[in-house]
Amino acid sequence: MQILPPEPAAIRAAARALREGQLVVLPTETVYGLGADARNDLAIAAIYAAKGRPRFNPLILHVTDLAAAEAIVVLPPLALRLAEAFWPGPLTLVAPLRPNAGVSSLALAGLTSAAIRVPAHPLMRAVLAEFGGPIAAPSANRSGRLSPTTVEACRELADVALAIDGGPCLHGLESTIVSLTGPFILLLRAGALPREQIEAITGPLGSPEGESEGELKITAPGMLASHYAPDTALRLAAHDVRAGEAALDFHGQLAGFATRLRLDLSPAGDLTEAAANLFAFLRTLDSMGARCIAVAPIPDFGPGQGLGEAINDRLRRAAAPR
Ligand code: TXA
Ligand code: MG
Repeated sequence: MQILPPEPAAIRAAARALREGQLVVLPTETVYGLGADARNDLAIAAIYAAKGRPRFNPLILHVTDLAAAEAIVVLPPLALRLAEAFWPGPLTLVAPLRPNAGVSSLALAGLTSAAIRVPAHPLMRAVLAEFGGPIAAPSANRSGRLSPTTVEACRELADVALAIDGGPCLHGLESTIVSLTGPFILLLRAGALPREQIEAITGPLGSPEGESEGELKITAPGMLASHYAPDTALRLAAHDVRAGEAALDFHGQLAGFATRLRLDLSPAGDLTEAAANLFAFLRTLDSMGARCIAVAPIPDFGPGQGLGEAINDRLRRAAAPR
C-alpha cells in the first residue's frame, strides 16, 4: 500500500484510482475509511474481500453535500433538520433509498434503505469533489478488528491502491448512526456525535432493541456483540491492576498500580480526548502480549459531552467473549 502525503497530487491520484474501480484508504474526521466507487459492484466486492467481512453488511455512503445525499435517499423533514444541524460531520442517517439511486446493491446489502453521511474532513471532502460521485467506505480495518485512527493502522489491508495520510483522526470514534426509515427515529450506533446533541432536535431517540427481531437483524455488524476486538482480553470497570495486566486508564484512576504499561485516555478526565485516543491506545496495549487489559471505569455521560456512551459501547464490544 502506497501512503501519500496530504497534497493535491494525492487527491487527484485517489480520485483516479476510484474511477478505475480500485480501493483507497482515506482519512475522515471519525476514523480512516476504505473507500470505493459506490456505483461499482466490482469495487464494492473488493471492499468486502479486503476487509474479510464474513457476509455482506451494508456500507456507509459518503457524499459532498445535502443535495448529493437527496439524490440517493429520501430524507423526511426530521432528517433534513439533522442534516442542516450536523452536516458536514460525524452523523450517519439511514433513510429510504430512492429508486434509480444508482448505488451498487452490494454496497447496500440488498436493502431498500441506505446509510449516508457528509464528512467534514477537508481531505475526504477534496477527494469527494475531485471524484464527483458517492464513495462507499467502511472503516479501514480487517473485519472485527479495531477501527484505524492513523494511516499506519490501515497497513493490515491488502489490495489497496493507495492511502492518503491525514494524521490522527479528530474524533477517533465512528459516526453516530440514526435510522429514519420507520415511524420512530432510532439510535443504531452511538458515535462521535453525542446523543444529547441529536435529541435536542429530535426528542428522545428509540433503541433498536425495542424493535422486532426481524428489524434488528438487518442493522448488523457494528451491532454484533464482539465487533471491536483486540486479541487480548479486557477487564472492564477495573479498580485495580493485577499481575500480568496492562492498564487502559482514565483520569488517573489506576495510576497507583504497578503495571508494564498504563496508558491514560485522558489524564484530565475529558471524554472527547478519551474518544480520540481509544482505538490507538487499545492497539498499543493489545500488541504487548499482556495477560489482560484492565480498563478503568469511564462515566457514561460527562458534563456537556456525552461521548462516554459511545466509548463504553466500544469497550463492551471489545470485551465481549468470542
Ligand atoms: O465514521 C464512520 O461511520 C466510518 C467512516 C469511515 O465514515 N465508517 C464506518 O463504516 O464506520 P462501517 O462500515 O464500519 O459501519 C457501517 C455501519 C454498519 O454497522 C452497518 O450495519 C450500518 O452502518 N448500516 C449501513 N447501512 C445500513 C442500513 N441501510 N440500515 C442499517 N444499518 C446500516
Ligand atoms: Mg467498522
